[in-house]
Amino acid sequence: MMTSKKLRQEFLDFFEKKGHKIVASSSLLPTDSTVLFTSAGMQQFKPYYLGEKSPYGLNVASCQKCFRTSDIEEVGDSSHLTFIEMLGNFSFGSYFKEEAISAAYELLNSKFKIQNSKMTITVFDGDSEVPRDEESVRIWSKFGFSEKKGNLRFAGREDNFWGPTGQEGPCGPTTEIYLQNTEVWNLVFNEYYQDRNKKLTPLEQKGVDTGMGLERLTMIVQGKSNVFETDLFEPIIKEISKNSSKPYTLNPKPYRIIADHIKAAMFLISEGIFPSNMEQGYILRRILRRAIRHGKILGLSSGFLIPPAKEVIEIYKDIYPELKSQETDILTVIQKEEEKFSDTLEKGLKEFEKIADNVRIGTIRNSNVRSGRSRNSNVRSGTIRNFRGEISGQDAFHLYDTFGFPLEMTEEIAQEKGLKVDKKGFEQAFKKHQEISRAGAEKKFRGTGKETTYAATKLHTATHLLHAALREVLGEQVKQMGSDITVQRLRFDFFHSQKLTEDEIKKVEQIVNQKIKQDLEVRKEEMKYEEALKSGALAFFREKYPENVNVYSIGSFSKEICAGPHVSKTSELRGFKIIKEESSGSGVRRIRAILE
Ligand code: SER
Repeated sequence: MMTSKKLRQEFLDFFEKKGHKIVASSSLLPTDSTVLFTSAGMQQFKPYYLGEKSPYGLNVASCQKCFRTSDIEEVGDSSHLTFIEMLGNFSFGSYFKEEAISAAYELLNSKFKIQNSKMTITVFDGDSEVPRDEESVRIWSKFGFSEKKGNLRFAGREDNFWGPTGQEGPCGPTTEIYLQNTEVWNLVFNEYYQDRNKKLTPLEQKGVDTGMGLERLTMIVQGKSNVFETDLFEPIIKEISKNSSKPYTLNPKPYRIIADHIKAAMFLISEGIFPSNMEQGYILRRILRRAIRHGKILGLSSGFLIPPAKEVIEIYKDIYPELKSQETDILTVIQKEEEKFSDTLEKGLKEFEKIADNVRIGTIRNSNVRSGRSRNSNVRSGTIRNFRGEISGQDAFHLYDTFGFPLEMTEEIAQEKGLKVDKKGFEQAFKKHQEISRAGAEKKFRGTGKETTYAATKLHTATHLLHAALREVLGEQVKQMGSDITVQRLRFDFFHSQKLTEDEIKKVEQIVNQKIKQDLEVRKEEMKYEEALKSGALAFFREKYPENVNVYSIGSFSKEICAGPHVSKTSELRGFKIIKEESSGSGVRRIRAILE
């Protein structure tokens, strides 16, 4: 059997032989702060379509880690996933349609032995702005594909036009290759630039961006009917089924959801994302909790995610060593999230039932008013079916706030029971809650007089020193999760799976005190966010930063993007002391410290 490992390698070798430079996958967290995740191979190459000189030359190929939530509802069918590896070849003003289509056909037909009878092609049909892609039609006809033969069809903007990623960028018509009715390879011809107002202008240099889902290609080449039976999933599913009395064959969907979500979650965690209630952290939490709920549907008990997670590492460790090297941390995050959620899940589901009952009764009561019948007799006899109830935004928020149900989970459970959720109402309840807690936080921070402000400023600088010292002692994987400063103390939360030893605490304290003694200068520079990242400044909650940011450096010891304010010399801090080190949930440690 042709393994997925071999397919991945053969793709890259094929294009390397055709003069492409092989470029490693970029991070799942793109530098473009207008998108949350890397969802396509071209993202790391975006500037080279716009004329910026590519350091890799004009032709490159890659296998890119991608994460997208756009298909999350479909996960469980035969081919949709949230995490995929995308194989791609790219041309920045070098070759165009002729070479791109010919190479794609050659690879599939000659190398992977896929017959024309298994292939269907789609081509952009043209609209008022962009003409029909006749050139692609001509090229495909050379390989035996045409509308007449019934193996080539046309499609419009929705299906056969791709890009841009983020708010603006290159984009263009596509031709797509379907294998056994599954879309497998997308060839994009970047001919246009779309600006923020969605206006298209022709690009000076034309480019090619192709993307082929490795999982789907593997499915076809391995002769499977769905991606979950390929070697990229089968061992994971096997591990899940070992502990369930409900066979995979009878009810594959929960298995598939768990397998996809655990894999995706692990790749996200390996990039330094942690479950939280914000942005990428929220998405991670959402997929982990969804996996946990589906584990419950399969009757799996606590800790069930660990064996399949280990299998994910086995499958990918040679290609993505970051999974293996961070194994302990990744498994800890998963385990902690499961422990945290399992308990509230049970209670939340009961609460959900109560809420759903009330919605039903309310619905029945309403219809009774109309029909003049008594509510109880209807509930008992169940005469009213097909009601369309809606869970209120307040209730959905209550499930979120008290039981940790992501809104999407509430919606999914509701849908299973034929109910809807008032999403707008949820958002309103959420906003109200945020306003109340913000008002509370402001009250806490509102310093009176110069002294209190200065004390907080000093602690703020101390936080940066502490952060850098922790990274020095415990390793670069230490990531700030949050911090809180009052006039008396600082509190710093960071990801680390173990309790700090006495020795580690002492070392951290010593380093901070040493930096205070060295009287380092604190410098502030304003720069573009992208530039700041390039310069090595640490950034957290990246998506919230404006285009121009302040970067604070303390000597050469610490560099962070931060709004400030800070002291100007570290000697102002005098002495630093850690007063407490404790756990703060999901693989997170919390340090409280004061200045003497
Ligand atoms: N950018 C296109 C896609 O993601 C082709 O790589 O489908």
